[in-house]
Amino acid sequence: MSTDNIILPSSQSNTQINPTSSQGTLIIYKSEVMGQLLKMVERVATSDASVLVLGESGTGKELIARAIHEKSRRTGKPFVAINCGALRESLLESELFGHEKGAFTGAYTKKLGLAESANGGTLFLDEIGELSPGIQAKLLRFLQEGEIYRVGGKDPIQVDVRIISATNRELEAEVMKGNFREDLYYRINTITAHMPPLRRRKEDVPMLIQYFLDRGQHKHLNRGRAISEDALKVMLKYDWPGNIRELQNVCERLQILSEGHTIMPGDLPENIRNPDQKILFDDYDPSLTLYELERRYILKALSYFDGNKTRAAQALGITIKTLYNKLHEYGEFDNFAVHQKP
Ligand SMILES: Nc1ncnc2c1ncn2[C@@H]1O[C@H](COP(=O)(O)OP(=O)(O)OP(=O)(O)O)[C@@H](O)[C@H]1O
Ligand SMILES: [Mg+2]
Repeated sequence: MSTDNIILPSSQSNTQINPTSSQGTLIIYKSEVMGQLLKMVERVATSDASVLVLGESGTGKELIARAIHEKSRRTGKPFVAINCGALRESLLESELFGHEKGAFTGAYTKKLGLAESANGGTLFLDEIGELSPGIQAKLLRFLQEGEIYRVGGKDPIQVDVRIISATNRELEAEVMKGNFREDLYYRINTITAHMPPLRRRKEDVPMLIQYFLDRGQHKHLNRGRAISEDALKVMLKYDWPGNIRELQNVCERLQILSEGHTIMPGDLPENIRNPDQKILFDDYDPSLTLYELERRYILKALSYFDGNKTRAAQALGITIKTLYNKLHEYGEFDNFAVHQKP
């Protein structure tokens, strides 16, 4: 993509940030891969299809969910988000479906659930991979029947919502392992959107930095408004494991801490200037054993391929079985039991 792109809530991509935009879902990007994704989002939004958004933490999953809502016919109706991983089962159920008065100790009044308050709009189920089997069954019934039961309630209540879900787990693998219901998986996953990690779209970094410096909470400070070319170079080298959220936090801190108008390399946090686990092949390091070097290299390969063991093994020139054995040996197997699709 040759031009800088900013997607506005309900218009085509534009080269300007619309300062009067009320809905606030601005998706800043320049990369081809985000361009493709947003084209897909535009097409999907107008349908009522359920969308599953996959991607690492901080890649903008919720932002995309909001953009889909805003571009759909449901815009103007509620967008209600619930974090499925944040509550234990019984609380989550009453949070999601509400409860009748007296349904349980402490239920002094009737309470509407989030599904009901999203009626006509979009229900965003964040961290859906964390749902317990009991709630999975109730959610599936809701999606099939279009009706809910409040906890302690006898009568079904019609609720019309569009479902957008998100997870940073590889849900397909969870289905395979029997942790996530296959029928529910197909219900929530008519369309899948993969949010690429920031290290795969570094072209977006300069625009994002400028956006966060121009529009962040600390923009009133008359410093840290611009970034020097050298500082930008350092930030482009960094891999951003926490993705856009990490970049946003760093920009905020830079703006507060920088001394002058322009951010210099010396203003950057140490971990960004000198990311550790750097493997230098032209230098011999007496403190680094071959075992440790191999371990780091293999883990690097896995993170490069978003935990995809088949692709990592291929690139490393070893069999998948060897890779599994190594991971067991390092005690890292569980950390890579599931992977994020690119
Ligand atoms: N392309 C983008 N343009 C502007 N801001 C962005 C972009 N992508 C993400 N952000 C901002 O980065 C932050 C993280 O995004 P978001 O919360 O959508 O990520 P997430 O994938 O849901 O993260 P998590 O997995 O941690 O919940 C938010 O403040 C969001 O507004
Ligand atoms: Mg999120």
